[in-house]
Amino acid sequence: MKVFINKKIPEAGIKMLEEAGLEIIFPEKDNLSYEEWLDFCKNTDAIVSIGAEFKYDKTFFEACPELKAIALYSVGFDHVDIKEATLRNIPVGNTPDVLSRATSDVAFLLMQSVARRASYNFRKVKEGSWGAFDPLQALGQELYGKTLGIFGLGRIGYEMAEKSKKAFGMNIIYHNRHHNEDAEQELGATYVSFEELVRNSDVLSVHANFTPEHQELFNASLFEQMKPEAIFINTARGGFHNQKDLYQALVDKKIWGAGLDVTNPEPMDADDPILGLSSVCVLPHIGSATVEARNGMARLAAENIIAFSKNEKMPNCVNPEVYSNHLS
Ligand code: DGY
Repeated sequence: MKVFINKKIPEAGIKMLEEAGLEIIFPEKDNLSYEEWLDFCKNTDAIVSIGAEFKYDKTFFEACPELKAIALYSVGFDHVDIKEATLRNIPVGNTPDVLSRATSDVAFLLMQSVARRASYNFRKVKEGSWGAFDPLQALGQELYGKTLGIFGLGRIGYEMAEKSKKAFGMNIIYHNRHHNEDAEQELGATYVSFEELVRNSDVLSVHANFTPEHQELFNASLFEQMKPEAIFINTARGGFHNQKDLYQALVDKKIWGAGLDVTNPEPMDADDPILGLSSVCVLPHIGSATVEARNGMARLAAENIIAFSKNEKMPNCVNPEVYSNHLS
């Protein structure tokens, strides 16, 4: 079975695929054009898919009738039309859990960086404008006892809530499709309506799976409803927020600060004025960028492909309904 891998991944995953006797196809360069990528996809049985630049939409599936399986090197699958994949009996695997700690660490890092204006103060040091001690300058805010609102309390949201509770005694509120009993029992988290989440959070951190109805959910009218001292954190997908509205809300002091590991668009423009604001910290989508998480992702992606090659169910499959069609 031929497996196309569009970028280098940690050796752990490659070794597993090789030991399983699969034929691995790597492109000679890292950044393929859409057409080059499509050519590889047309001539393979399965893909280990790295990055979300290209969409797995109806046009793609129509162009690749031989493709039988996709193993994403990510937990997010918003770049894949799952309905189209399922219609064609193509299982789509992802990499949950192994990156929950790393990604929630970044949310936690951003929350603190914004609260203490770390990026801005670092820039001042770098630019040689440290200056004399000033009791009224560079003031941040403390997080102790504040209310953390989690939008989407799954694995990553839980880890963020747990860290914030332990470190700062934060009070956890959340909004989710379903109640999270564990978070309620173990962290004392309270389920609230979306409106209450927006109005009552001192820090609002986004951790939901992105779907088209979430497109720019956090826009001017929502920032208007947030507390003026609130911090907005997004480590999920840039599409959740309207970045111009976010900038304006910060300038107009509708909210206090923002920490982004995902931007809209992505990559963002280096001239975006939001980067000049003192209570903003932006990172280039590094949530899962640790050795441990990336090794784990390589392992899970390989496990998904190997299971598929043996006509077994992918252990982490986002459309398991495909198996009711062609496996027992
Ligand atoms: C994920 O796994 O979804 C991360 O955002 C990396 O793309």
